[in-house]
Amino acid sequence: MNKPSELPPELTTAIPTPQPQVGISRVHEAAHLHVSGEAIYTDDIPEAHGTLHAALGLSPIAHGTLVSIDLDLLRRQPGVVAVLTAADIPGENNCGPLLHDDPILADGELRYVGQPVYAIIATDRELARRAAALARQAIVSTPLPAVLTARDAHAIGQYVVPPMHLTRGEPQAALAAAPHRLDGEWAVGGQEQFYLEGQISVALPQENQAVLVHCSTQHPSEMQQLVSHAMGWASHQVTVQCRRMGGGFGGKESQSALFACVAALAATRLRRPVKLRVDRDDDFLITGRRHGFDYRWSVGFDDDGRILAADIDLISNCGHSADLSAPVMTRALCHFDNAYWLPHVSMHGYCARTNTQSNTAFRGFGGPQGALAIELILDGIARRLGLDPLTVRQRNFYRDGQDITPYGQQVEDNQIGRLTDQLVRTSDYHARRAEIAAFNAASPVLKRGLALTPVKFGISFNVVHLNQAGALVHVYTDGSVLVNHGGTEMGQGLNTKVAQVVAHELGVPAAMVRATATDTSKVANTSATAASTGSDLNGKAAQDAARKIRQRLTPLAARLLDCAQDDVVFEGGEVRDAGAGTGTAGRTIGFKALVAQAYLARIQLWSDGFYATPGLHWDRAKLQGKPFFYFAYGASVAEVLVDTLTGESRVLRADVLHDVGQSLNPALDIGQVEGAFVQGQGWMTSEELVWHPQSGLLMTHAPSTYKIPTANDMPRDFRVALYDAPNRADSIHRSKAVGEPPLLLPFSVLLAIKDAVAACGPSRCDPPLRAPATPEAVLDAVEAVQATRAT
Ligand code: MTE
Ligand code: MOS
Repeated sequence: MNKPSELPPELTTAIPTPQPQVGISRVHEAAHLHVSGEAIYTDDIPEAHGTLHAALGLSPIAHGTLVSIDLDLLRRQPGVVAVLTAADIPGENNCGPLLHDDPILADGELRYVGQPVYAIIATDRELARRAAALARQAIVSTPLPAVLTARDAHAIGQYVVPPMHLTRGEPQAALAAAPHRLDGEWAVGGQEQFYLEGQISVALPQENQAVLVHCSTQHPSEMQQLVSHAMGWASHQVTVQCRRMGGGFGGKESQSALFACVAALAATRLRRPVKLRVDRDDDFLITGRRHGFDYRWSVGFDDDGRILAADIDLISNCGHSADLSAPVMTRALCHFDNAYWLPHVSMHGYCARTNTQSNTAFRGFGGPQGALAIELILDGIARRLGLDPLTVRQRNFYRDGQDITPYGQQVEDNQIGRLTDQLVRTSDYHARRAEIAAFNAASPVLKRGLALTPVKFGISFNVVHLNQAGALVHVYTDGSVLVNHGGTEMGQGLNTKVAQVVAHELGVPAAMVRATATDTSKVANTSATAASTGSDLNGKAAQDAARKIRQRLTPLAARLLDCAQDDVVFEGGEVRDAGAGTGTAGRTIGFKALVAQAYLARIQLWSDGFYATPGLHWDRAKLQGKPFFYFAYGASVAEVLVDTLTGESRVLRADVLHDVGQSLNPALDIGQVEGAFVQGQGWMTSEELVWHPQSGLLMTHAPSTYKIPTANDMPRDFRVALYDAPNRADSIHRSKAVGEPPLLLPFSVLLAIKDAVAACGPSRCDPPLRAPATPEAVLDAVEAVQATRAT
């Protein structure tokens, strides 16, 4: 037993400077690799000897019967090693995450233009693509009538899952009794994730019937399951790894599966490594994106603009299969209330099946589509009553006694009123409102507009069991730490945050902690990194693992420091006796030295960790329960300038106040808020998807026609602040999830454009502005309000 006199030489009594590891702006752990081009994405993994390349042959028609495929034609093409079709799938021909309705390769039926029908495996990528491109010649089919819009599908009751209904109170009676009523219809388009790194998988056959798949995916465990099902194998035969993604934004939650399955099928069949990296245009044509929504509503309200009743249909365009459309609709229904008390409400969610790409997760996961509707409705109410929309919003906010959501969850820790008040002050909203009115009165062509929109976003997966995570933390004998967790890194900084949590728990500098690639052979049965829960779940799991290691080290440290275990503190790379009054107080031993001793003492220096979010329950049939651990809040004020002759608009200034609880890493969080804002702004203003009305071809399948925002579209004056209030829920270090909620902030941009357009019309006009508010849409709205002025 070590007595103080026998202490190892590393012991000192110097007081270490505490180095907090959480709550500080640490640079993204891979930022230097991203900017230097050294970061390894799936395509950068050195190709194994003999690697073959796959490309997919796509359906040229929107709907039809697949009669035959001219395999001889395809096999004859230069470089072609094999052609795979549905018949070559030994297990289940499905890559759908929930329902088994999503063929990997078309079998019997062609469902949309772009559906993969066969896979070419060739000696190089170019040759594979050339052969794949012969789809029109190779595919023999009989066309069938196609349903291309959600409205058409809804009209014939064609859905991917049964309709969902969520009602509270007596909406019909309350509507009839309300002093004012507003009926409306509106639609918002979908949105392409436009991850910079496209979909990609590389599969390497392993000994004894196994495969290793490097996949750019948010959901390695699901890739493992779907690959094993397609192979007719057990999960332990399949390992999926993801070092990082060049963005996912929801598009690699379920839809990375098709590529993983094809690569794995080809690799195991040919016993050669196979890489499938899809071209951007094909990525657009094959995979789905954010669901476009159609809405129809009736709302009743009082003279002050308070909503008394609302009845709304939400119709989502799901595409040809269910994918994640049901949970996306659930989240839409659970976000129609946004920040507002709706005493009587009924919502009807229809998941329309159409002959287009299967739509999927995209940042916000239906939440934005739900909340956008109520924001538009409130704007309409305000214009009808001649009130400032902000006033109407504030009057409808959840408040004490009026704080139960339509799905039965109490809004605890409601921050929306206070947060909005603060933003109104810091953005100088009221003075600018007056200034803009004066500007518009004197400016016939250029009009300015202003809008403030709030966000309340529920954090947790709506499916209770998904709210779990695991981690594995290794401390090596030199004191360095390796963290593996079930989350995936897509640029959001998850690995940085988790490493911070572990560094904090072990009291070591962040440089001592490294995060590994995500790997299904390390942490099993993980959930997707989605629903913004990455750091909440994996941070807690990693904290649990690190705590276990610290707890195992503590008795040894106490012995070495000759102090009580309660007095042992891990901090700044040292382990210290923090007790007062004992002779040894302030004495320290280096973490490294302690670990070396622990190894000799045969103390386990690695640990697993686990976390399950407490207190959640959800009744899927009734759409009632407590689906969310807590809510994240935010608000933004946008000021825009609109040229009413060209329809062009620009964001002059945006002020954002966003609630991330007690931030784990303010720099990363601000980055997430800014990125989400501009991404949402793109959805609201420039990103437009157009399918050919007859052929069903997605015509906007490349950046030449599909316009994501550029650096130039950023708000000219962009002021992002974090709302500093610890999460009341016991989240990781009282932080709040940040990935998705700020995507809803730029609703203020759309409504500011609407506000500017309204300045062209008579007072109380309500411009019929479409989304996205492209120059064409703005011009149409300007003409419409000018026409009402003329009459
Ligand atoms: N940030 C970057 N840079 N790249 C991404 O792909 N995806 C968003 C968000 N932020 C994304 C991103 C989406 S859709 C989600 S759900 C969250 O990050 C997922 O990560 P988190 O749970 O760790 O926040
Ligand atoms: Mo994010 S849409 O939950 O991947």
